Amino acid sequence: MMKADVDWGNLGFGYVKTDERYVSEYKDGKWDEGRLTGDSEIVMSECACVLQYAQTCFEGLKAYTTEDGRIVCFRPDMNAQRMIDTCERLKMPIFSKERFVDAVVQVVRANAKWVPPYGTGASLYLRPFMFGKNPVIGVKPANDFEFRIFATPVGPYFKGGVKPLKLRISDLDRAAPHGTGHVKAGLNYAMSLYNIVDAHEQGYDENLYLDSATHTYVEETGGANIIFITKDNKVVTPKSSTILPSITRRSLLEVASKYLGLETEEREISVDEIKDFAEAGLCGTAAVISPVGCIVNHGEEIYLPSGMTEMGPVTKKLYDTLRGIQMGTIEAPEGWIQEIC
Ligand code: PLP
Ligand code: COI
Repeated sequence: MMKADVDWGNLGFGYVKTDERYVSEYKDGKWDEGRLTGDSEIVMSECACVLQYAQTCFEGLKAYTTEDGRIVCFRPDMNAQRMIDTCERLKMPIFSKERFVDAVVQVVRANAKWVPPYGTGASLYLRPFMFGKNPVIGVKPANDFEFRIFATPVGPYFKGGVKPLKLRISDLDRAAPHGTGHVKAGLNYAMSLYNIVDAHEQGYDENLYLDSATHTYVEETGGANIIFITKDNKVVTPKSSTILPSITRRSLLEVASKYLGLETEEREISVDEIKDFAEAGLCGTAAVISPVGCIVNHGEEIYLPSGMTEMGPVTKKLYDTLRGIQMGTIEAPEGWIQEIC
């Protein structure tokens, strides 16, 4: 198959319009049968619920070319389930797991020439999303919705690829107790925009949010979960009801224990503990595992012993094993790899 004319090795994390996207419309209490379309534009009322009250949610997952030339997707059923959980919280209709996975397969097949070749480090990012479409002026959920998936080829989320990141502990909050931090609502990202621009202006790569009730415990960044490695090689990650349940993080914990024989722990992690860890990394679909080299707590610079030039050794093992599973060079646990073509 002819691939698209893209400089795969130099892609950043941006939007490139590809050929086909999936659309399904929800009207009169049911979803239509769905279709692929070449039309990337959306036309709707100025009073659409999504525009006035941000009734929108999304997912993110990737398709890869394996070493032996197949195209696969990583755990799309997990994204489908998380979108169901999000839709329940946002009073949006459920798009079934089966239809979600089928739509993913359709979009990747239709855009096969946009799936980066094996070995380029790039992948095809899929963005499923749903929004309330009909006019709503009193505060209430929409009646009509659209579910869509588009695809865009991407490289690393953070500029500089695997160069360790510098985070700052944020004074602003991302998620309230009993709020929406545990689901993938667009509103969680809208409220982080001020803070990410400010962080970049101050020379940081990302904000590290704390629990908003006490500002004592580490939660996550604006777009990824965080893992720490202790000096005796244990993988530790925050436990909280207000962070997004990252599919990458949950997969990594399994990889750590089942493939690498490492001990893992999900527990509250206080800010004071950061200085005792050996390594840290941000994990997510976009971030994959991006090493963290320094965390700044109100002027106090905490450098992880793994340093500012490369990934820590345990983080690297986790990264290599996860990538190997995704690229088909390491056998995947049952159900993790969705064959596309
Ligand atoms: N946390 C936040 C706030 C995110 O936006 C994401 C991205 O999806 C993640 C964590 C990582 O989740 P996943 O590994 O499922 O992509
Ligand atoms: C992802 O990793 O898929 C996300 O949705 C994070 C986003 C900030 C790009």
